[in-house]
Amino acid sequence: MDHFHYQDGALWCEGVPMTRIAAEVGTPVYVYSAAAFRQRAREFRDGLSTVPDTHLAYAIKANPNLAVLRVLADEGYGADVVSGGEMARALAAGMPADGIVFSGVGKTEAELVRGLEAGIGQFNLELEEEGVVLARLAAERGLTATAVLRVNPDVDAGTHAKISTGRKENKFGVPIDQAPAIFARLAGLPGLSLEGVAIHIGSQLMDLAPLEAAYARVKRLVDELRAAGHRIARVDLGGGVGVAYKAGDVPPTLADYGAMVARATRGWDVKLMFEPGRAIAGNAGVLLTEVIWVKPGVVHPYVIVDAAMNDLARPALYDAWHDFAAVTPDGERMMANIAGPVCETGDTFAMAREVDRVAKGDLAVFRTAGAYGATMASTYNSRALVPEVLVDGDRYAVVADRIAAETILAAERVPEWL
Ligand code: LLP
Repeated sequence: MDHFHYQDGALWCEGVPMTRIAAEVGTPVYVYSAAAFRQRAREFRDGLSTVPDTHLAYAIKANPNLAVLRVLADEGYGADVVSGGEMARALAAGMPADGIVFSGVGKTEAELVRGLEAGIGQFNLELEEEGVVLARLAAERGLTATAVLRVNPDVDAGTHAKISTGRKENKFGVPIDQAPAIFARLAGLPGLSLEGVAIHIGSQLMDLAPLEAAYARVKRLVDELRAAGHRIARVDLGGGVGVAYKAGDVPPTLADYGAMVARATRGWDVKLMFEPGRAIAGNAGVLLTEVIWVKPGVVHPYVIVDAAMNDLARPALYDAWHDFAAVTPDGERMMANIAGPVCETGDTFAMAREVDRVAKGDLAVFRTAGAYGATMASTYNSRALVPEVLVDGDRYAVVADRIAAETILAAERVPEWL
């Protein structure tokens, strides 16, 4: 079932019409479906049902809204966090500390200390020196940090260059061939229990082959580390499965992904950790917007909507495609450019695209905006910070307020000497 569906000529999210949310909350606004989050969370888990020992750590960078985290915590998910701020959110949502994975290429010592004191379940080390520092910080507190070493398998994930993370020139992990030497130096440090390895090769992966190739490299490394006498108890396989943004996109199903993982990791005898973000959140949200003007253009008209690149950055940043659909379509189509009000040519969501016909005052949505949407919003052009709504059945709640431009202005000051 699609949790965003047309009923009586209008778009609904579960049991709530979009028109009602627009009237009561205003636009632009992100609208999430709790049922969609739950469904994908269960599909991801079900896909892995034949894998013996797993832990699911939702990559909260994809959508860190507290209410979303609560929904996923109730589904038994832990979290993959990359900052002290994300860690605080995961804990605030009720996720147990020992189910939290602390990733991130630049964790500060203060963040490591917060993680240790909170009892975080796994630290993903990005470099040897981080392991030395973590060991010292833990030992000073009479603690032992459980850690894995993130290795860079030098695999091309076949995704956008800005979200590819597993090629050797990327900043992430240690070169896989250096891992045995780093293990040898870190193993046995008081305060550190180095129990395995982690990978993440990129996001929005539409093909399982690069993942499988990376897993094969990880397996060779695990064998080598075991042969050297290390106890390897966990492997973190990262996130990365993509979602469909437009007609013709065919991402791997979570069943196929799970089957591949089961096949590729058979006999590894480790706890497998997973950090899915987009696969859980992507299709669970839309960005609801209102058409401000339809402005004549040289070739096609410009549909100027009240959402902009500051609310949904993905098209401007990655040339990403988000389907544009009218909330009350009249059945006609038009060729148009869709743009926001921000004063940049890059503030365009679509150029020369055939879309539902819309006119001034109409509501529309950008679909598949549940992941890397609101969380990447800014207040550029002194626009308000976009609010978020969670629908659950026939109820909805504003789960993040619109932060008005005046509120942001109130946090600034002019020094008295000016
Ligand atoms: N684990 C690690 C270590 C990661 O770096 C990421 C994403 C994930 C898990 C989750 O990956 P996913 O399952 O969502 O593919 N802002 C970009 C995406 C950046 C992803 C960065 N890392 C976008 O809007 O496409």
